[in-house]
Amino acid sequence: MKPAPQTFHIKSFGCQMNVYDGERMAELMGAQGMVAAEADVADLVVLNTCHIREKATEKVYSDIGRLRKDQLRNHGRTPMIAVAGCVAQAEGEEIVRRANVDVVVGPQAYHNLPTLVAQAATGQAALDTDLPALTKFGHLPPRRRVSPSAFQTVQEGCDKFCTYCVVPYTRGAEVSRPFAAIVDEAKGLVDAGAREITLLGQNVNAWRMEDRGLHDLIRALDRVPGLARIRYTTSHPNDMSQGLIDAHRDVESLMPFLHLPVQSGSDRVLKAMNRAHTRDSYLRLIERVRAARPDIALSGDFIVGFPGETDAEFAETLSLVDSAGYAQAFSFKYSPRPGTPAATLAGQIPADVMDDRLQRLQAALNRDQHVFNAASVGSTCPVLIERRGKLSGQMLGKSPWLQSVHVMGDLAVGDLVEVTLTAAGPNSLTGERRPI
Ligand code: SAH
Ligand code: SF4
Ligand code: F3S
Repeated sequence: MKPAPQTFHIKSFGCQMNVYDGERMAELMGAQGMVAAEADVADLVVLNTCHIREKATEKVYSDIGRLRKDQLRNHGRTPMIAVAGCVAQAEGEEIVRRANVDVVVGPQAYHNLPTLVAQAATGQAALDTDLPALTKFGHLPPRRRVSPSAFQTVQEGCDKFCTYCVVPYTRGAEVSRPFAAIVDEAKGLVDAGAREITLLGQNVNAWRMEDRGLHDLIRALDRVPGLARIRYTTSHPNDMSQGLIDAHRDVESLMPFLHLPVQSGSDRVLKAMNRAHTRDSYLRLIERVRAARPDIALSGDFIVGFPGETDAEFAETLSLVDSAGYAQAFSFKYSPRPGTPAATLAGQIPADVMDDRLQRLQAALNRDQHVFNAASVGSTCPVLIERRGKLSGQMLGKSPWLQSVHVMGDLAVGDLVEVTLTAAGPNSLTGERRPI
């Protein structure tokens, strides 16, 4: 028997959808009368995990060990531990067997967390890794207080089955939340302090409700009073409809930023990845987006060292980067995931080759990011202030193109102000508030 926990701590890893889930779990625990606390003192620690790349699972086990040791040393007891998120979904009961944790809860079942915690308090490990589509949203308390830039999940799961990826197995099939529920939650977020909402989904642009697509949702949210900015992520090239491209031309509150992962510049590798788009179709798609919104900031994801990737195929990824012109992008070394088709392919790439390719790709992407930031210097744009900076009097906000901007002055979190950009670094810009 463990006493029912009074305090909790949630640690989220991985993507923005996990950040959103972590916020919702915190609200759920708050609604039970529990109070947030630091990890080294909390009665209940929730590890909201990610399974996308290697060592994620091992890291969860070592985190559990460390949490227990810290609390045992400092307070003479161990916390109740819940493993949530994608490792919970992928590993299930194995986590209870290996680490003797109290609760295991999958990403579609966390609305049951209070019940599972109550069961664990009786001394019985509690597990729920069901994948019921959308059930959880009906069981979550309303949003109370959020930051000026808030996340909102509108779509979950993935049917694409890229051969390297675990997401279709950990998050289940593609489902879209209903239109009215999303608009209601967005209004609630604005009432709770949001001025910007980023719509989230593993394939957010696959959001569909009868004959309506993501662009219809964006146009409806554009009419929500007090909501100044709309963003969405992550998109799949094959779900980038003309309607959504047109929205980038027409909807002022839709920010000029598009995260459109491509993964590789080689058609042979794309096919082996089951990406269902080609290098050329991706580049043509970007052209169409730029025709609608010439200043759009393009972001992407890349994987280097997919099984069988040759030097020449990797060179095609570098040349795609040159052609596409990214404002920023993420790049990863291929990581074999148990149970995915690519994990057993011949031609796994040696670590030193992967390291070298990743370095070269990141050098190119960093160069382009700096070029993009430098080109903004001298212009004036609205900046949404999100938090205090490190220096006294300094605030940190975001430009429409998702660049971090440091501004000095008498500003509050949530202010949306005109800023003249004066200097660019590789990762951020400096600006001055334009006198009115
Ligand atoms: N649904 C999104 C992204 C999901 S995962 C999309 O398809 O675009 C985020 C990124 O992690 C992917 O875009 C990919 O670049 C990377 N990723 C996924 N599985 C991986 C693996 N096994 N090894 C390395 N990177 C991986
Ligand atoms: Fe994974 Fe591909 Fe689905 Fe993205 S589209 S989540 S990379 S399977
Ligand atoms: Fe990770 Fe799951 Fe997100 S595997 S990237 S937390 S969908």
